[in-house]
This record gives sequence, C-alpha cells and structure tokens, in this order.
Amino acid sequence: MSVRFDVAAHPGALAYKLLAGLVVPRPIALVTTIDAAGVVNAAPFSFFNVMGTEPAIAVFAPADRDDGSLKDTAANLMATGECVIHVCDEPVAAPMVECARPLPPGESEVPRAGFTLAPSERVRVPRLVECPVALECRLLDSRKYGDNRFFVVEILLAHAREGVADPATWKVDYVRYAPVGRMNSPDGYARTTDRFSLRFPSEG
Ligand SMILES: Cc1cc2nc3c(=O)[nH]c(=O)nc-3n(C[C@H](O)[C@H](O)[C@H](O)COP(=O)(O)O)c2cc1C
Repeated sequence: MSVRFDVAAHPGALAYKLLAGLVVPRPIALVTTIDAAGVVNAAPFSFFNVMGTEPAIAVFAPADRDDGSLKDTAANLMATGECVIHVCDEPVAAPMVECARPLPPGESEVPRAGFTLAPSERVRVPRLVECPVALECRLLDSRKYGDNRFFVVEILLAHAREGVADPATWKVDYVRYAPVGRMNSPDGYARTTDRFSLRFPSEG
C-alpha cells in the first residue's frame, strides 16, 4: 500500500516540504559570486548537482524571493557569468548555513560566516579557502520555470584540499573527504561517513 500526494495540484510550500524531504540526501553547492562593485556574495543551494562531464556541467536552482526579486546569487551570475561552487564538509557546515542569512545586496556573507577568500584562476570570483572543494565555473545557460531559476554552468577548474583527490589518478579518497548532504528543511543534514559498496554489473 502506498499513499498518494497530488504534487501538481499543490505546487509551492507543500510540494517543497514533501519533495525536498523525500529526495535526499542532496549535495549542497555553496556558491560565491561578485556584484558590480566586486562585493563577494556566498549562498548555499541544495537543488544542485553535477550533470555531465563532457563538457563538465553543474546545475543549481535559486528560486526567486517571495516578492519576485532575484536572489543575489542569481542576479550576480546573470550579470557577470561567473561563480565558484564549493562543497562543504562538517567543519564548514555551520558557516555554510550562516551564508543562507538574507542580507541586503552589497553586504557580504563571507566575513560574517568566518570564511577566508583566495583568488581563483579562471574566473574573477574568489573562492573560499576553508571548503574542501571549490569548482570555478562559467555560466552556460539559464532558464526560468515559474519562480524556479535553473543555472547551467561549465566547471572549468577544480580545487581540492590536499589528500582529497589524487593529483595523478584524480581518484577521491573518502577517508579524507566527507561532504555533508541536505536532508529535511529547515535544519536537517546528513553525514557521508557511513558508506557501502555494490559491485557494478558486468556482462556475462
Ligand atoms: C542547506 C541550504 C540549502 C539551500 N538550498 C536552496 C536552493 O536550492 N534554492 C534556493 O532558492 N534557496 C536555497 N537555500 C536558501 C538560500 O541559501 C537563501 O535564500 C540565501 O539567502 C540566498 O542568498 P543570496 O540572495 O545571497 O543568493 C538553501 C539554504 C540552505 C541553508
């Protein structure tokens, strides 16, 4: 027996509560962007994933605010075409959440959350030193469905904290890398320290 939920008839808050609770754990993109004055904005988005590797693309979705205005991340990305996507582990999980505080445009979440900035190589947007992974990205495409905005970005360059990925083989070491995932809103998160393996099916 299953219980049915008419999602199409209840878009918005109910659909969010259900779907954002069911489709978990989600990766979290902590996205830095810059505004026209060069002020660095940082905000987390869990409607996010890597969607392909040839070219390497990621997608994330900042919904518009209730008053119809763009979130700062969306406005900055549309104006500059650049962002850096960070993946967070537990030591930076609380500062990542602090970056969700709605601040007026022009006011940076970065010092408030205690993050340190470092210059990026391929984009003008700086990256956050404390995050284990930073992906320098350029905007490929944006779409709007209702109040959802989708940004498709190309990942140009990845920075990984020493030990996280082997520079020779590019293999990731999960003993050294344990990103957190998004569970239920408003305050649920998951660890990735409890893992298991299944053999990939081979022919024959
Ligand atoms: C873990 C986490 C995940 C979030 N995911 C999203 C998301 O996918 N889409 C969205 O619109 N807001 C999301 N938010 C809320 C935004 O981070 C928040 O609205 C933020 O203030 C936007 O900042 P900005 O205006 O500087 O871009 C999330 C917040 C948290 C804490």
